[in-house]
Amino acid sequence: MSASGAKKTALITGVSGQDGSYLADLLIEKGYDVHGIVRRTSQIRRENIDSARVRAQLNGSTFALHYANLTDPWSLARVVGEVRPDELYNLASESHVAISFDEPENSANVNGLGVLRLLEVQRHLVPDCRFFQASSADLFGSRSPNGVIGSPTQPLVYDENSAFEPSSPYAIAKQFAHSITRFYRDVYGIHASSGILFNHESPRRGKNFVSRKITSTLAAIRRGQQETLWLGDLNAYRDWGYAPDYVAAMWLIAQQDRPDDYVLATGEQHSVREFVECAAASAGFALEWQGSGVEERGIDRKTGSTIVRVDERYFRPVDHSYRVGNATKAETRLKWSPTVRFDQLVDLMMENDLRMLG
Ligand code: GDD
Repeated sequence: MSASGAKKTALITGVSGQDGSYLADLLIEKGYDVHGIVRRTSQIRRENIDSARVRAQLNGSTFALHYANLTDPWSLARVVGEVRPDELYNLASESHVAISFDEPENSANVNGLGVLRLLEVQRHLVPDCRFFQASSADLFGSRSPNGVIGSPTQPLVYDENSAFEPSSPYAIAKQFAHSITRFYRDVYGIHASSGILFNHESPRRGKNFVSRKITSTLAAIRRGQQETLWLGDLNAYRDWGYAPDYVAAMWLIAQQDRPDDYVLATGEQHSVREFVECAAASAGFALEWQGSGVEERGIDRKTGSTIVRVDERYFRPVDHSYRVGNATKAETRLKWSPTVRFDQLVDLMMENDLRMLG
């Protein structure tokens, strides 16, 4: 509810994605009317928002979808003009970093210019609306300004004052989006904030991100529907958190009197290899590594089968390991902290994928 007691209205771009769907759930629970922007695709995938539909029906809130696209300013103006949101969360993006090397212009158009289009529409139609931009940890590179790199035991730690060094078409577009959000805040007085989000995963994560690829494929192997999990760099490290925690922070950020930027992270790093080991144990495999480099294999000791292999095609032209976020500002000002540990996250994702296959 707003200060006047009226129901608040939120508009979420990317509502059917992992973050958008959890945010829709949260806002409906908080009594908002929620509108979501979806883009036309040949295959409609809306499982993530089934729960928002049910919740909205149960508590008498609106949950409505609108077709629009960040590459089409007229469509954005139409929806923003119709919905007139109190809060606008921009969670839509071409979010796969590796694919941005193949489609760099599309990344720049959606992840960069798309944010400018949305802000410009908001400035003219609903200037008092609060705006949240999903910025990325990929704004940071993985070197300190003096060239130091981290290690498995000593990651570099990034906060809101760290220098940006984006090194993928995805991240370069996100840097533009981050800067233009700040510009609209500073120059036009828009309540525009960013969350600089480190990796955050869940059962609703797309299956081409490494966490869900691991848990969904291991579940399929466990159920006899697939033989091998093919991965890229097993020694890549990430600061992995739980997506619902991160959308809770997005809402808190939009409620602050002053708009600002916040790093959201767990402060811990783990490798892809650890993720596989933890997921394999959770699925009941006895994983053992043999060989090295691209010949490395993960064997299930119980059956002798090779269940994990390395495929060079999944290596990236540039990748970033050994970095974590320092979320002290979010902890202090928002009273936010992650609630799910790495091993709990892997377990809950593995359990979900096993359950989905019966
Ligand atoms: N996707 C994928 N597939 N990644 C793999 C694989 C594989 O088969 N094998 C190893 N990896 C490694 C990648 O090289 C990377 O180092 C790491 O696993 C994580 O990859 P993703 O899950 O694809 O996520 P990301 O870190 O590139 O990007 C995610 O996090 C960013 C914030 O840090 C996305 O959510 C971005 O949108 C987000 O900005």
